[in-house]
Amino acid sequence: MAEAGGRRRLAVVAAVSAAAVGVAATVAVLVANASTGDDAAAPVASAAEYPPLESDVLSEEQARARDRAIRQAENARARGLLAPDVRPEDLVAPDGSASVITTEGRDIDCTQVKCVAITFDDGPGSQTDELLRMLSAVDALATWFPLGAVVADSPDRLRAIADAGHEIGNHSWSHPQLTARSNGEIDTQVTRTAELIEELLGTRPSLVRPPYGAISRRVVAELGRLNAPAILWDVDSRDWATRNATSVRRAVLRQVRPGSIVLLHDIHPSTIAAMPRILRTLAARDYVFVTVSELFGGELKAGQVYLDRTDQYRGF
Ligand code: NI
Repeated sequence: MAEAGGRRRLAVVAAVSAAAVGVAATVAVLVANASTGDDAAAPVASAAEYPPLESDVLSEEQARARDRAIRQAENARARGLLAPDVRPEDLVAPDGSASVITTEGRDIDCTQVKCVAITFDDGPGSQTDELLRMLSAVDALATWFPLGAVVADSPDRLRAIADAGHEIGNHSWSHPQLTARSNGEIDTQVTRTAELIEELLGTRPSLVRPPYGAISRRVVAELGRLNAPAILWDVDSRDWATRNATSVRRAVLRQVRPGSIVLLHDIHPSTIAAMPRILRTLAARDYVFVTVSELFGGELKAGQVYLDRTDQYRGF
């Protein structure tokens, strides 16, 4: 592939994606909004044909972010979530900033349809691939709250999750109870994790799930200072305690209601084993599986605590 040709293509993509900037700092992901492709008339090479990146054009980090954005868009297209007239490469800026493929394209209004946000903490675990297939089978997007220390050991798992369009939050670096830590330590736990994820994915997670769900007015205020909404849950699967697929399934199905946030941990094989029936049953009840950001229509505010779509925590 000629160098000049490669650069020309990149320039075209840059121009196209300018219309698509402005998508938030949330890690959220996926799904093209057809409107972002309105100006995308110029012919562009398919993702597979992109020339190798040159170090004088893009940093390694930018190159990774761009490649990821292309994979993400390809995934969306494979799942029929991309408008037919939008090509993945049209959505990707040379520096990857167009991970701009947002959940908005799904246009799910959780005030009108039965939404549920499935969340997975403490991982990613060793059965990520299996879980991603299960979710994909029912067109489900979920939200992961990974630990920085785990991500550092298995960055490829996190990339696979993000590539499939799921939302990535932040569950601290090493799972301390934040209420027992100083503000400085909270900052370190959150920021170190966010920086690692940003380095890997090109987008910085904003949602934080405090370990153990332990919060106080001080912790939440500190999270607010770090620009993070605190995401709790209303459906506790207790999967970490029971470690039994049937118990996990029953706990979830008994408690879930429209607008729920479901707490699960994908590091337990029993949780993975419970997922197919949980997903099938909820799909049969007409639930739509959304990310946490989708559940709130992108309206989450830093320094606030969320339990489910309608309730904010007022217990302080
Ligand atoms: Ni946890």
